[in-house]
Amino acid sequence: MTFGNYLPALVAALLVSAHLISASSNASTLSSCLSSANLQPVSSSSIDYVADSLAFNRRFSYSPADIVFPTSTHEVASAVKCASHAGVKVAARSGGHSYAANGVGGQNGSLVVDLRHLNSTNVTASDKTAVFGTGIRLGDLALALFNGGQQAMAHGTCPYVGTGGHLGCGGFGFPSRLWGLALDAVIKAQVVLANGSIVNASNTENKDLFFAIRGAAPSFGIVTSLTVKTHSAPPTNILFNYAFSAPNSTIAAKTFLAFQKFGANNAPSQLGINVQLANGSFAFGGVYYGPQSQFENVIQPLLDAVPQPPINSSVKAYDWVGVLQQLGDDDGILNTNTKPDISDTFYAKSLMVAEDKPLTEAALLSFFEYLYSDGTTTDTSWFTLADLWGGPDSAINAVSSTKTAFSRRSALYTFQFYASSMNKSPPYPTDGISFVDGMVNSITTKMSGTEFAMYGCYIDPQLSAAEAHKVYYGNSTTKRLQAIKSRLDPHNTFDFPQAVGR
Ligand SMILES: Cc1cc2nc3c(=O)[nH]c(=O)nc-3n(C[C@H](O)[C@H](O)[C@H](O)COP(=O)(O)OP(=O)(O)OC[C@H]3O[C@@H](n4cnc5c(N)ncnc54)[C@H](O)[C@@H]3O)c2cc1C
Ligand SMILES: *[C@@H]1O[C@H](CO)[C@@H](O)[C@H](O)[C@H]1NC(C)=O
Ligand SMILES: *[C@@H]1O[C@H](CO)[C@@H](O)[C@H](O)[C@H]1NC(C)=O
Ligand SMILES: *[C@@H]1O[C@H](CO)[C@@H](O)[C@H](O)[C@H]1NC(C)=O
Ligand SMILES: *[C@@H]1O[C@H](CO)[C@@H](O)[C@H](O)[C@H]1NC(C)=O
Ligand SMILES: *[C@@H]1O[C@H](CO)[C@@H](O)[C@H](O)[C@H]1NC(C)=O
Ligand SMILES: *[C@@H]1O[C@H](CO)[C@@H](O)[C@H](O)[C@H]1NC(C)=O
Ligand SMILES: *[C@@H]1O[C@H](CO)[C@@H](O)[C@H](O)[C@H]1NC(C)=O
Ligand SMILES: *[C@@H]1O[C@H](CO)[C@@H](O)[C@H](O)[C@H]1NC(C)=O
Ligand SMILES: *[C@@H]1O[C@H](CO)[C@@H](O)[C@H](O)[C@H]1NC(C)=O
Ligand SMILES: *[C@@H]1O[C@H](CO)[C@@H](O)[C@H](O)[C@H]1NC(C)=O
Repeated sequence: MTFGNYLPALVAALLVSAHLISASSNASTLSSCLSSANLQPVSSSSIDYVADSLAFNRRFSYSPADIVFPTSTHEVASAVKCASHAGVKVAARSGGHSYAANGVGGQNGSLVVDLRHLNSTNVTASDKTAVFGTGIRLGDLALALFNGGQQAMAHGTCPYVGTGGHLGCGGFGFPSRLWGLALDAVIKAQVVLANGSIVNASNTENKDLFFAIRGAAPSFGIVTSLTVKTHSAPPTNILFNYAFSAPNSTIAAKTFLAFQKFGANNAPSQLGINVQLANGSFAFGGVYYGPQSQFENVIQPLLDAVPQPPINSSVKAYDWVGVLQQLGDDDGILNTNTKPDISDTFYAKSLMVAEDKPLTEAALLSFFEYLYSDGTTTDTSWFTLADLWGGPDSAINAVSSTKTAFSRRSALYTFQFYASSMNKSPPYPTDGISFVDGMVNSITTKMSGTEFAMYGCYIDPQLSAAEAHKVYYGNSTTKRLQAIKSRLDPHNTFDFPQAVGR
């Protein structure tokens, strides 16, 4: 062997060390800039660094360059400017519940801008509007809206999910067929752009940005506050659950088909309903936003259509906060300041079933055969939900597919397939990912020719950026987002593995 053979390796080694030097010099440039701006960065040498870097999904652990906790939009802007100058990527963190740990960057070396101090809410009940900082979580927001004149909006059930991430990707909850996704309530946003400028976005100002932050926010800036349209909280909310014994896949598929037909034809928009599946259980559950006497008429066509009657049921009226407490944590506490968040170790995927392409009985049979075989032997703890999104008068699908970056306005229902490690802690079982893939494939292989969309709030980190853009946004919305990205964030400052711009 001659020296010549070593040359490429030598050059490669020099390039690697040059890269390391520039990475660490970027990091120290960043830290000193943040310190000069009085942002007190938490860096790898700080005692709090490990705890402050933890993601909700412990399947991932990433090492951010620094973590800051700004107390104003101007401080957020200073932090973004420091990162832009240092060539460091930026991720906002609101509730930290990203399935891909994108709140800590989704990769090593990002600046994490934690928004927890931007958690005020001002409600103007007379106007039916509210403005809140995007560091507030869903449980605290719901309480603030209700305490500010019995106002409410549609959003997910978990009190600890952050508003920044949730309203940036979608935000589905049982009231969504009545009021839309959480992001549909937004009428104005304050946003910090990659160059650190602070702008307003609405239907009249920075319209492209307003489009982009409603569905693809993490790629476009840090939204620091949101103004939303609110609704008077319904006085009576009927929480219901009907459990079925599902003796075999034939009966299970027919029970599911009854839900699919009922959803497409009979469910009024005041009804939020899903199918809840887990090992050994099959149930319909949800909330009806109206009086119990109406509910009984509304649900009857579904109960008439199932092949076997429920083995158990529960139908109970609550006030607005009461129903949120029932749907939220086991202990019913919505105020997240009373105890720390929990965590999980999981992999999840989604499928959106289009109104014009409902699942065939063959696809459902295949799905239940999989659940009743592999689903009993897997070493994960799993559940599947199918949430009704569409059907008669759905407010989600009343919005045009070109109005917001969230473009999926024709789903009849959205599946979530979710599997945790048995004790919710690492390590994640090695076959967990293939088990979840198997749930999805059991359906899609029987529906060849159907292109399924997926829900961008249930991020699947196994997808490449191109695949993710296609299934979350669709081709034409992706093109539009790419053009906006190159104008507003030409150096990809807001970056993560599936960011627009990759
Ligand atoms: C237990 C659990 C329950 C859930 N339930 C529901 C549900 O019922 N309905 C539903 O629709 N979804 C639900 N989700 C999904 C949830 O909506 C998303 O995971 C959401 O992105 C989490 O937001 P976050 O602020 O908590 O997460 P984070 O990890 O803080 O943020 C998520 C992404 O948004 C970015 N981001 C955060 N704040 C901002 C901001 N202010 N400006 C710009 N970008 C920002 C982050 O950088 C990251 O990329 C649930 C998730 C979990 C883990
Ligand atoms: C460091 O910053 C420069 C620009 O200032 C950028 O080109 C380079 O990619 C950065 N390096 C790393 C490792 O981020
Ligand atoms: C991220 O950094 C950690 C240590 O800080 C390291 O163990 C891990 O391999 C890194 N991950 C990647 C993808 O580089
Ligand atoms: C905002 O955060 C502060 C400090 O963490 C906390 O004391 C307060 O209760 C929070 N407010 C809301 C509405 O959650
Ligand atoms: C709510 O009002 C207070 C007092 O005017 C203000 O300090 C705060 O910034 C407002 N919050 C938002 C999110 O606009
Ligand atoms: C954004 O709107 C607020 C009022 O909501 C206003 O005070 C502020 O000046 C506006 N900012 C810009 C850059 O127009
Ligand atoms: C499924 O269960 C039903 C009702 O118990 C029964 O009639 C049917 O034969 C079963 N089908 C199979 C394939 O086991
Ligand atoms: C029936 O439902 C009630 C209320 O939801 C529950 O407490 C009970 O355990 C259920 N019983 C069975 C047999 O599933
Ligand atoms: C599913 O339930 C059955 C019956 O209770 C049990 O034997 C099996 O271990 C469970 N499997 C999983 C994956 O939870
Ligand atoms: C989207 O683009 C991909 C690749 O460019 C293509 O395979 C797919 O058919 C397109 N989908 C639609 C719905 O146009
Ligand atoms: C920041 O970027 C925006 C969007 O590209 C641009 O309109 C604005 O002029 C820039 N501000 C500065 C100070 O460069």
